[in-house]
Amino acid sequence: MVADVIAAPPRVELEREIAPRIVAWQRTHGRHDLPWQRSRDPYRVWLSEVMLQQTQVTTVLAYYDRFLARFPTVLALAEAPLDEVLSTWAGLGYYSRARNLHRCAQAVMAEHGGAFPRSASALETLPGIGRSTAAAIASFCFGERAAILDGNVKRVLTRALGFDADLAVAANERALWDRATALLPADADDMPAWTQGVMDLGATVCSARRPDCLLCPLTEVCVARAQGRVEAYPVKTRKLKRGAREHWWLWLAAPDGAVWLEQRPARGIWAGLWTLPLHEDEAGLETALRELGVHAAAEPQPTLRHALTHLDWTLHPRRVLVDAAVAARVERSFAPGRWVAPAELREIALPAPLRKLLIG
Ligand code: ADE
Repeated sequence: MVADVIAAPPRVELEREIAPRIVAWQRTHGRHDLPWQRSRDPYRVWLSEVMLQQTQVTTVLAYYDRFLARFPTVLALAEAPLDEVLSTWAGLGYYSRARNLHRCAQAVMAEHGGAFPRSASALETLPGIGRSTAAAIASFCFGERAAILDGNVKRVLTRALGFDADLAVAANERALWDRATALLPADADDMPAWTQGVMDLGATVCSARRPDCLLCPLTEVCVARAQGRVEAYPVKTRKLKRGAREHWWLWLAAPDGAVWLEQRPARGIWAGLWTLPLHEDEAGLETALRELGVHAAAEPQPTLRHALTHLDWTLHPRRVLVDAAVAARVERSFAPGRWVAPAELREIALPAPLRKLLIG
């Protein structure tokens, strides 16, 4: 018995079906009230797209208005100190986005007279704007017929088209970009609804596991559904190899409540943010304490586990209260770094798990 297997339409017919269905679906069922949708101002749209690159809508909602209140224009962002940008970003993760945001605002001021360029190809030359983000901004703000292809959209399109080539191979990924471009609506006025619709479909209905095909506007034409193997798409063989690292974090607390913090290097994990001094093992942390003349035991705090893209990072904080003489010695022997007073802890750029540990 053949239960759910339905004949898929031929390729050209299928490609013609997809855009009108998604555009109509977006207009009736998609999201329309997100704060960045109330504007076609490229500064606002760009900011939302960068925030949404690796962060879910619900999280972005908590940051977006606050970021805009602090940096209302591209000029304000370009002129702000990087540290202030990083501290406003803290909690959204993937901090290279915040550094690129700052560099991009400066490039828009210096190279484009303060106005974002209007084409996807020009937007793509700016720091932190990849091909898909450039196309999203150009289609939302200027109605350009440019294809987006982020992770959610890849899932929608590979399923709808039955595109089963391995996306770990660059040539196959390029072929999918070509297919995505061929699907664009003919009418540029439909571009914002198309771009938002295909994103929304991927984020809500066409989920990685247990997609809700009965709610999908493509259900009658989707090749993956006709094959009864929706969850087999997208095909991507190369798996991320995750590493694991473990560190001990020395939390030195001065009598006035100040905490000793060091700034991370400009590259790598938590680049430019302020953190506690790291030690490879507990013995190294204890040696550092003895060298400071501290003989009290460091007090273990709850272990933190922080998942990064390539790495599971385990951090063991150890807290020690030091007296004024030791605090002065820390300053001489631990530099570069500084004592940060309790009131300033809220202002300085801290990684989210450390903010939680120090401030609660
Ligand atoms: N992800 C990336 N861009 C988005 C947008 N404009 N709306 C919802 N999710 C997104």
